[in-house]
Amino acid sequence: MRDIMAPESGRWRAFTQVFAEVVEAAGYQLVIPPMMEDLGVFSRIGDATDVVTKEMYDFVDKGARHVALRPEQTASVCRAFAQHRPLTPWKAWYSGPNFRYEKPQRGRYRQFDQVGIEVLGADDPYLDVEVIALGWEFYRRLGLEQLTLLLNSLGEPDDRARYVDALRTHFEAAGGDLSDQSRSTLDKNPLRVLDSKRREDAEIIAAAPTIDQFWSDAAAEHFATVQRGLTALQIPFTIDMKLVRGLDYYRRTTFEYAGGTLDSAQNALGGGGRYDGLVEDLGGPPTPGIGFALGVDRTLLACDDEGVFTAPDPAVDVFVVDTTGGGEALLVTAQLRAGGIRADRSYENRSMKAQMKAANRSGAAYAVIIGTDEVEAGTAVVRPLRDDGAQVTVERDSLITDLHSRVQGSNS
Ligand code: HAM
Repeated sequence: MRDIMAPESGRWRAFTQVFAEVVEAAGYQLVIPPMMEDLGVFSRIGDATDVVTKEMYDFVDKGARHVALRPEQTASVCRAFAQHRPLTPWKAWYSGPNFRYEKPQRGRYRQFDQVGIEVLGADDPYLDVEVIALGWEFYRRLGLEQLTLLLNSLGEPDDRARYVDALRTHFEAAGGDLSDQSRSTLDKNPLRVLDSKRREDAEIIAAAPTIDQFWSDAAAEHFATVQRGLTALQIPFTIDMKLVRGLDYYRRTTFEYAGGTLDSAQNALGGGGRYDGLVEDLGGPPTPGIGFALGVDRTLLACDDEGVFTAPDPAVDVFVVDTTGGGEALLVTAQLRAGGIRADRSYENRSMKAQMKAANRSGAAYAVIIGTDEVEAGTAVVRPLRDDGAQVTVERDSLITDLHSRVQGSNS
């Protein structure tokens, strides 16, 4: 678990801000679920997944309730829907930390952040397209170029069940040729064997049946419409029939945004899909659902690798230097801040030289210098710090107006 320090922390905030702009422009509203829930909420993610069986931070609280820190937010959002029954289609977005007891490495952490959207109560392939396109648009807004959209359909629940049976038969026939790891995965969930990166499994996986052979007509038509919609929006995609995702609740459309620069195990920057049935599992009415979550930590690493979406400049506009004891700086910084100018100052009544050094280090565009002469004359000296332009003396009464036009000038 990591500390995110400035200026990186500013980038995190800007990231969420851009995401909010993209999804709120499409009618999604913020939901803030709790970070901890009854363990049962998360068990529905799938008792055959590592997320549930190995990675959960769960414990018994002082009231003898078995609770867990959330490993993701889709289950919480569905639980909230079942509890509050908002009008449908309910379009929600969220952001915040999640917890999984994984082996930490670059792009994989035990506490990691996601931003995401979920839509509950609408079964329309064009909604799948909208959701996928919003994630794509967001990555574009960050400036990421090396991005691949992987797309698959797991079919209707019956199709998926028949496919799982066929996979089990196929992998069981391979017997001892399959890695020990995959043989134990096979007992729990044959779909997950498709994720194995072990060399001894590669050929057996390549020869495995593919999901398209099991799609019902309805599932195939749904998937074809999703593809037509993405093509109409000029969003490129790659069909990946082995894309089964790490959580068990998916039905029909699944997708992942893969980055181009991270290790293959960590290159999924985000992913999602349809999960019709999850709300019902959590005690609500039968409700179709679709959404995605994007990993903040990982996406920012990809931004670093591509040299895009750098940290915003955290510097203030003005640094106030007061050689009269500090009382003037108290007043002027308060006035400037109230007037919309970002202002800082130094403390402990230091020398002019020390204060100017602090002003330069602050990254501010201007120093506002006040000594006894200026106090008597009702003025202040404005000195540019980022270039060697001339300093000017300004009436205190017009200081805010003057600085506004300078700051705007230097930012444009
Ligand atoms: P997920 O694929 O488990 O899906 O996670 C989504 C993204 O979260 C991943 O692509 C990755 O970027 C990031 N992520 C996951 N685990 C870690 C980790 N340990 N460290 C850093 N980043 C990580 C879900 O969570 C689903 N709830 C997505 C969804 C929403 N499906 C439908 N709606």
